[in-house]
Amino acid sequence: MDKNTTVVNILTGWIRSVFADTFNDSGIDFSNINVAMVGTHGFGDYQCNEAMPLAKKLGKSPRDIAQAVVDDLELPEFIEKLEVAGPGFINIYIKDEWLVSYLERMSADSFCAVSEVGIGRTIVVDYSSPNVAKPMHIGHIRSTIIGNTIDRVYRALGYNVIADNHIGDWGTQFGIIMMGYRNFVDKEALEDDPVAELERVYIKSYEKSREDDNWLTQCRQELVKLQQGDEENIALWKKFIDLSMGEFEHIYSRLDVKFDYVRGESFYNDKLQPTLDALIEKGLAVESDGALVVFLEEEKLPVCIVRKSDGGFNYATTDIATVISRQEEFNPDTIIYVTDERQQTHFKQFFTICRKLGYDVDLKHVWFGLMRLPSGVFSTREGNVIKLERLLDEAESRAFDIVSRSSSELSEDVQKDIARAVGIGAVKYADLSQNPQSAVTFTWEKALALDGNSGPYLQYAYARIASVSDKYRERFSDIDFNSYPLLFSEDIERKLAIKVARFGETVMRAAFSYKPSVIADYLYDLAQAYSTFYQTVPFLKAEEGVRESRIRLCGMVASVLRSGLQLLGIETPDRI
Ligand code: ARG
Repeated sequence: MDKNTTVVNILTGWIRSVFADTFNDSGIDFSNINVAMVGTHGFGDYQCNEAMPLAKKLGKSPRDIAQAVVDDLELPEFIEKLEVAGPGFINIYIKDEWLVSYLERMSADSFCAVSEVGIGRTIVVDYSSPNVAKPMHIGHIRSTIIGNTIDRVYRALGYNVIADNHIGDWGTQFGIIMMGYRNFVDKEALEDDPVAELERVYIKSYEKSREDDNWLTQCRQELVKLQQGDEENIALWKKFIDLSMGEFEHIYSRLDVKFDYVRGESFYNDKLQPTLDALIEKGLAVESDGALVVFLEEEKLPVCIVRKSDGGFNYATTDIATVISRQEEFNPDTIIYVTDERQQTHFKQFFTICRKLGYDVDLKHVWFGLMRLPSGVFSTREGNVIKLERLLDEAESRAFDIVSRSSSELSEDVQKDIARAVGIGAVKYADLSQNPQSAVTFTWEKALALDGNSGPYLQYAYARIASVSDKYRERFSDIDFNSYPLLFSEDIERKLAIKVARFGETVMRAAFSYKPSVIADYLYDLAQAYSTFYQTVPFLKAEEGVRESRIRLCGMVASVLRSGLQLLGIETPDRI
């Protein structure tokens, strides 16, 4: 059975078969042609623009092609009419009855009947993945928030999603931190803000290691001791992890981010040597200047070191071992990694190596642009890093100023809870509404925007729309509006209905392009269309039947906004 019941998929499947029937002696494969959505100003509900690119192959003018498709066609139940326009567009008009039944199906479902195309498929999403002993700053927010949305979107589509936080808990930095900790730690500061203090001693020790060879050697020795299982160093290492995880978890709970697994790089330690053996056995890893490397010249990629000349393993070795381990344990169809753009080469390298090793799991690197300040990049050393906790605090407190004024009659606790949802919503939306691959310049104004295309604007729209049905109930307490059919008595109603029906295809587009911004754009557009609708037609004053239908449509807009915001990890309080 085809589980993809989005409008666009139904239309696409149909138009492909129509082209194939119309031109069945052409020998052309029409299985890739598509239909497109029509913008606000176009004609039809959807459009097929494929006659133009097919003109050459079919030896006919695009208009003739479009006309041949449309002529004498028996229309299926979901189509009202087709029309040929311009150079050869086919405008598609959906039948009202069919649209109504589509919306009825959406309205009967708690998550707006999103197609469960992922049933039976497993994906691992590797995201957030901060490094131990370093605070999460606002650059890290992107992997956490984008990754979490990808996680939510795939779950909504029925995939079996395994969210794995691959924290950086192993590696050369631990020798440096240990020396720093043993020599410079300020116990009081460690109590106060453990991760900031760990970072301070790390930086101090790192700087010393660059000037003082003796110090550097000692750092290396501490690392070797750790790697060999020295009890004292292991205990200290565990302490660093616990302190860091405490802080990370606090942030995850504020952001409502949950993982199925938090497996650090160290989880794969005993799988590194077998991985290396497999690479050697396949003839992929070869000796070069005392190190073991994989040449990737054919792929035009830099050589990948899998074991350093000092015997240490690399980031890439761990990632290869991780793929093998995930493959054995979860047998996923896809593994998605969410990191910043600077790691693109690393991912290309180890993806290639995994393929050469014979692993055919689909590996996908979803990278995003770096977050910068108007004055340049964030740098711990320059001290211009804005910590994530501070950003969230600031967002909540700015939202509280507004909520306490707009909802002064509510208790302070309730106001605080709304402010929390609004503040966190603003921060998440500011990030998710942009194309992930463009660089983001951080400004407080943008991150905390409460109006325009922002999280709070949509939360506010939701609360307002949801309250319409309350007003209805106050006036018409004895009528069940849900028992009335949907009607499109005005054009604007139908336009809004078509937009509501696009929710499902929007979620799929966001999933397969790995772009949360696809959902954000859609929700903003929907909220605006609703606003025009609300301003143009009467609701409670409309005649019976029309009135109930409008209240129902309104409710559908509200549930799409709620479901869509939920995919972005944004709460929808009933009032703001
Ligand atoms: N810990 C790394 C960093 O902060 C990100 C890890 C991403 N995941 C992975 N499997 N390599 O840069």
